[in-house]
Amino acid sequence: MADEALCFDMYGTLCDVSSVADAIERELDIPGGLAADVDALWRSKQIEYAYHRGAMDRYEPFDVVTRDALGYALDYYGLDVAATDALLSAYDDLDPYPDVLDALDRLTDERDAVVFSNGTPAMLDRLAANAGIDARVDGLVSADDAGALKPDPAVYEHVASELDRPLPACRLVSSNGWDVAGASAAGMATAWVNRDNDPAERVGGDADVVVEDLVALADVL
Ligand code: LAC
Repeated sequence: MADEALCFDMYGTLCDVSSVADAIERELDIPGGLAADVDALWRSKQIEYAYHRGAMDRYEPFDVVTRDALGYALDYYGLDVAATDALLSAYDDLDPYPDVLDALDRLTDERDAVVFSNGTPAMLDRLAANAGIDARVDGLVSADDAGALKPDPAVYEHVASELDRPLPACRLVSSNGWDVAGASAAGMATAWVNRDNDPAERVGGDADVVVEDLVALADVL
């Protein structure tokens, strides 16, 4: 679809959330294996809290959700919460995946494209600048402007409105299977970047396209 716009999820799709484990190891002076466990629990709680707040109709911006999830992970492992601000700052400096920057140049050459994320505008501004992504897209669209978090349908409707396109003319590109399911349920086109070769989620909304990374996506779109 020539006038299709691409909507790139940020955390876990363009940027590697596991890359903050080095900062966890350094700031907390703990072994790398434990730092990786803290990072994984931080991410899983971040997503879980986003779901829970949506179901409870208790919205908070993603920076609050991310801070709360980190606090849980540090408490769970009995670690010093005084490192919280330093670790949240490191979360603004995640590494882009190796395939991302060059593939974005190809994918956005003749298409409108935005970053589309739960991240707050301030979070996305910082990370997109630090990762070299901001110069490669037409804009940054935050779920915060819809007052909801993925996979709430209002969030996907918001990005289509921002792009001034019907939902089927907007393609979500995400590594998060649950995000793909939410976008599909809302009526978006979808591409699942299955970086970890995971099984498909079983919540409906099968991906239109499944690839292993953004280079493969640029080859098929
Ligand atoms: C995002 C997270 C949920 O960027 O991956 O929206």
